[in-house]
Amino acid sequence: MSPAESRTAESSPAGSTSGSPPGRAPAAAFVTFEGVDGAGKSTQLARLAEALREAGREVVVTREPGGSPGAEEIRRLLVEGEAHRWSPETEILLFTAARRDHVERVIQPALRRGAVVLCDRFADSTRAYQGAGDAARRALVDRLHETIIGIEPGLTLILDLDPADGLARASERAGAEDRFERKGAGFQQALRREFHRLAEANPGRCVLIDATGDPDTVAARILAVAEARGLL
Ligand SMILES: Nc1ncnc2c1ncn2[C@@H]1O[C@H](COP(=O)(O)OP(=O)(O)OP(=O)(O)O)[C@@H](O)[C@H]1O
Ligand SMILES: [Mg+2]
Repeated sequence: MSPAESRTAESSPAGSTSGSPPGRAPAAAFVTFEGVDGAGKSTQLARLAEALREAGREVVVTREPGGSPGAEEIRRLLVEGEAHRWSPETEILLFTAARRDHVERVIQPALRRGAVVLCDRFADSTRAYQGAGDAARRALVDRLHETIIGIEPGLTLILDLDPADGLARASERAGAEDRFERKGAGFQQALRREFHRLAEANPGRCVLIDATGDPDTVAARILAVAEARGLL
């Protein structure tokens, strides 16, 4: 897959404003969920998947880092272990390698079938986590994305929540995958600002979702966006 090929593989991005024409299969769509730790991404992704399946769509649910067998192996290198295990540059290369495998083996084939792909985190997480406060690193992430990945979602839902509330939600969950969460409250605030910056820089693709309130309330906000974008 060349980047040029991958750019055109998404036949009609989820950014279109109307539903599919009568009698024709709905267009493939690539939708990503982003936001600080514990904002509710995984919860809301599952809710949207359910609504789309009820509407008769083929839905592929996936996540990053990981999402394909090879990328899941790389995920373990990234999310477990000591907080400064990798240099920021090495980390960016590992994320990019994992993403390339995931795009080639899972995301592109699903989009070619006309499925809706819902991905829990994607390139914006790398931009936010690895680029926070460092313009040179952010430029490296963007350059690698352009040359190695070459595909953007049609719609990115950024779940916006005070990181303190997100950490309180997530702390009720146990697990070893806490290397990024252990980086602290100041870092989480910087992440939120990065997600705001990404939303402002990409107004056609990114939609900031108020992630406060109970899961039903947040799901209703997301459904309204999905309907407006012709996904449902
Ligand atoms: N709207 C909500 N109100 C209260 N609790 C919630 C809400 N949404 C999700 N939760 C709970 O908060 C925790 C974090 O939610 P979830 O795992 O969906 O977040 P996440 O953004 O995927 O987190 P992570 O970045 O760690 O993967 C879970 O225990 C979930 O059940
Ligand atoms: Mg999650």
